[in-house]
Amino acid sequence: MAQVREPDCSFIKGNDMSTVTSLYDAWLAVENDLIVGYGAMEDWPGISDWSNLEIIDADGKIVLPTYCDSHTHIVFAGSREGEFVDRINGLSYEEIALRGGGIINSAKKMQAATQEQLYQSALMRINEMISQGTGAIEIKSGYGLSLDAEIKMLRVIKKLKQALPIPIKATFLGAHAIPPAYKENRQSYIDLIINEMLPAIAQEQLADYCDVFCERNYFTPEEIISILNAAQKYNLQAKVHAEQLSNSGGVLAGIKVGAVSVDHLEYVGDAEIEALLQSNTMPVILPGAAFFLSLPYPPAKKMIAAGLPLAIASDFNPGSSPSGNMNLMNAIACIQYGLTPEQTINASTLNGAFAMGIAENYGSIAIGKKANFIITKEIPSLAYIPYAFGSNLIEQVYINGVKYKGY
Ligand code: NIG
Ligand code: FE
Repeated sequence: MAQVREPDCSFIKGNDMSTVTSLYDAWLAVENDLIVGYGAMEDWPGISDWSNLEIIDADGKIVLPTYCDSHTHIVFAGSREGEFVDRINGLSYEEIALRGGGIINSAKKMQAATQEQLYQSALMRINEMISQGTGAIEIKSGYGLSLDAEIKMLRVIKKLKQALPIPIKATFLGAHAIPPAYKENRQSYIDLIINEMLPAIAQEQLADYCDVFCERNYFTPEEIISILNAAQKYNLQAKVHAEQLSNSGGVLAGIKVGAVSVDHLEYVGDAEIEALLQSNTMPVILPGAAFFLSLPYPPAKKMIAAGLPLAIASDFNPGSSPSGNMNLMNAIACIQYGLTPEQTINASTLNGAFAMGIAENYGSIAIGKKANFIITKEIPSLAYIPYAFGSNLIEQVYINGVKYKGY
């Protein structure tokens, strides 16, 4: 049984990331939706303490908490494999975006989609993600880029929250790209976000966080600070897409406004690492996006060696990471970034929970936490999961103590 922690341990950093506290030959007790006990088999109290006990035999298998995926864009319309082929044929992500592809391509498709279509397609993606071991998800808007379409996306996320038993956090990402109609007057789009979108979203209580894309050709550090400060007036804590395509100041700006997380981080340098060490901001890496876009790797090992915590998320979206498989994200982090399997488990469970504000109830096997856990197939060790990266090794997933069978 892996990732067994004290309930008040809310994230893991530095050297401690190299260890996943585990019990060999263990039992886990679940009552209703909560973890109520665990221990070594030799200390098993016997079944007389419980009535109506159902026993699940996990002999030879590994039990671990479900993954907490703190960064996704899974409400989207259509797919973008045409851009994938364009990249194979030599264009870059930025070149495609400048021609009206990229986020703007998804925004066009979003305008035409109904709430019901968006809901059904997102539900399918969530079902696939849960079957792959994910038990908590953050979802961003950001393909709307107009008041109505951003609200449409956020209403879909709200409906998913209400319908599903896993925790879902909603993030408003109006500042994902400048819509073409505002190209010559970007400030008026920023004004629209601050003066119209944010109040409407707060009024309907549609978001938990506010995110922004800090990047050349997208939003500057000054612009994101003004948006994130405005969001804070509505109690929306900040998140930032930072240093993905260039070192453009997103991390430092995010820390300045007390961001809960800064995400991507391919172009993070020493100044950002130093500032992160002085902050409570969780650095989040998104190996799927860097892999899919052939970006340089973030200095993940260096960040951990400096003493930082690190979270891993999927960034599941149609343009830069068309996968929500956290086993694969961890494998990429191991194979390409040189993280150990233990570091990736800490990053994708408890630290992911911290990056979405739910570490109190999710992200580890701990007394009082929700019984969201994975039972693997029979495997020799935890390291076998990223090692056998092409296999599906998740046998069962339990959500709130109930075996997942599809929603
Ligand atoms: O996280 N970096 C910005 N946003 C997304 C990409 C969105 C898209 O291409 O549709 C990301 O990678
Ligand atoms: Fe993203």
